[in-house]
Amino acid sequence: MKRKGWLAGLGLTLLVSLAAAPPPQVSAPELAQRLGCWACHSLQGRGGQQGSPLDQIGARLTPEDLHAVLTHPRSRHPQAKMPSYAHLRPWEMQALVDYLTSLK
Ligand code: HEC
Repeated sequence: MKRKGWLAGLGLTLLVSLAAAPPPQVSAPELAQRLGCWACHSLQGRGGQQGSPLDQIGARLTPEDLHAVLTHPRSRHPQAKMPSYAHLRPWEMQALVDYLTSLK
């Protein structure tokens, strides 16, 4: 009995430390790839044509604009067939916006 309690305690400690762990490092280019951005947008001439090229996007849009486009694409482009990425975790969204901002 005593032993079981000890194990449960360890399990709980593990759970708590996992929940409190810092967000994993995400590589934004990898994330963009995984999210399918390049099916519609291009970068350095590679990618889709449905959306505009993202090469200079950091010079055209502020981080706030980028955040708005990614969470509500239609707020900026009412006709855009771009999915919303509002479901991203905060650190994923941050990494993506930082990355796009760096494209100048
Ligand atoms: C199904 C196609 C599609 C996908 C997938 C998609 N987009 Fe779009 N996106 C569009 C269209 C269409 C527009 C509106 C026209 C344009 O590009 O300006 C748009 C607009 C944008 C804009 C605003 C451009 C501007 O000048 O205002 C940004 C930034 C953007 N997308 C980034 C992304 C990123 C980053 C991803 C991946 C996380 C992504 N898009 C995924 C189709 C898509």
